[in-house]
Amino acid sequence: MSKSVNVAIIGSGVVGSAFISQLNGLKTAIKYNVVYLAKTSSEALYSSDYQSVDLSSYKTSATKPTLGLDELLKFLQGAKKATILVDNTSNASIADYYPTFIKAGISIATPNKKAFSSDLKTWNEIFANSAVPGAGLVAHEATVGAGLPIIGPLRDLITTGDKVDKIEGIFSGTLSYIFNEFSTTEKSDVKFSDVVKVAKKLGYTEPDPRDDLNGLDVARKVTILARISGFEVESPTSFPVESLIPKELEGIESAAEFLEKLPNYDADIQKIKDEAFAENKTLRFVGQVDFKANKVSVGIGKYPFDHPFSALKGSDNVISIKTERYPNPLIVQGAGAGSEVTAHGVLADTIKIAERIAN
Ligand SMILES: NC(=O)c1ccc[n+]([C@@H]2O[C@H](COP(=O)([O-])OP(=O)(O)OC[C@H]3O[C@@H](n4cnc5c(N)ncnc54)[C@H](OP(=O)(O)O)[C@@H]3O)[C@@H](O)[C@H]2O)c1
Ligand SMILES: *[C@@H]1O[C@H](CO)[C@@H](O)[C@H](O)[C@H]1NC(C)=O
Ligand SMILES: *[C@@H]1O[C@H](CO)[C@@H](O)[C@H](O)[C@H]1NC(C)=O
Repeated sequence: MSKSVNVAIIGSGVVGSAFISQLNGLKTAIKYNVVYLAKTSSEALYSSDYQSVDLSSYKTSATKPTLGLDELLKFLQGAKKATILVDNTSNASIADYYPTFIKAGISIATPNKKAFSSDLKTWNEIFANSAVPGAGLVAHEATVGAGLPIIGPLRDLITTGDKVDKIEGIFSGTLSYIFNEFSTTEKSDVKFSDVVKVAKKLGYTEPDPRDDLNGLDVARKVTILARISGFEVESPTSFPVESLIPKELEGIESAAEFLEKLPNYDADIQKIKDEAFAENKTLRFVGQVDFKANKVSVGIGKYPFDHPFSALKGSDNVISIKTERYPNPLIVQGAGAGSEVTAHGVLADTIKIAERIAN
């Protein structure tokens, strides 16, 4: 008989459904029994005898109400079987429950940043609980740069004794696109507000672009990388984060009114762009963890035309990791968002955990 592992999946949206279809196509020695699948916050598929959910027909199968987190934990424990919970939501209450799942022996694979980028206490609790014999494992590669290999390689460097000097990167696909279009190595008069409007039209921004422009998503990712490298960041709001939202437009009610007034502030950011251009530099929105300066920050940076950040295209992410062993920084670049690449990051984590716990 081959080894197997139980899998519980929460969420079947863009990433969730890509994950399910990749999992369904897996050809591995380990068997993955999906014993629970919450399609949405109200509809779930599962049976009391832990029959595997049919992943080829889940979209049309009859559902039951979603289990609460206490009930879900009880249900999963009742199977008495190695179990991986895949949380493909951005729900904070599910993230807050991770330490409890882990303590109970349930492993977690997730792209949900909330648990890893909120208060330091939760982070410490997750990894302390996970270090105990019999506890669940935790993997979250897709919380930074989607499927790009960032967290795994960074952890490998740290655990083998390397020391981070500086981490610097472009971690938001949306802000990557906006700055790659706005600030180029060729002279350009394109307006910041126009680029934001196009990005919204292309579906690259959140419904309210201020949720991208406020820098918080980047701050969350930088918090995660800083903590892995040994920088005890208290929260994603405990260090300087430059917001691209003009002060006067922060309190405006609707996204539409915000976009209508944004052109009034084009001159301010245009001036910064022109100054950079005169120095043969582009503007990029970056996150930094700088050990020498003992500083974590998020905001606009200036990069020489021949720097890899200036050559970035589309909505790609890029990260540069400078360590004792890599004084010439290690650079990882590629798509940092999208359902297929995010799902592959989560599935690869799921497989790595399964290889350790399947029985
Ligand atoms: N898309 C990307 O490129 C990308 C890249 C990297 C990381 N991520 C991360 O991937 C995660 C998912 O992204 P998202 O923003 O699309 O998430 P989201 O909108 O919060 O998740 C949507 C799906 O999860 C379901 N859901 C939410 N709470 C649930 C619950 N308690 N039980 C069962 N289902 C629940 C939603 O159902 P309802 O409709 O009922 O709420 C919906 O189907 C996030 O953590 C995101 O940061 C995404
Ligand atoms: C988050 O998940 C919990 C537990 O499943 C649920 O009760 C709550 O309504 C969810 N919140 C959101 C915003 O989806
Ligand atoms: C910028 O590049 C141009 C063309 O290579 C050069 O002539 C100019 O001196 C550079 N300016 C600065 C400030 O380095």
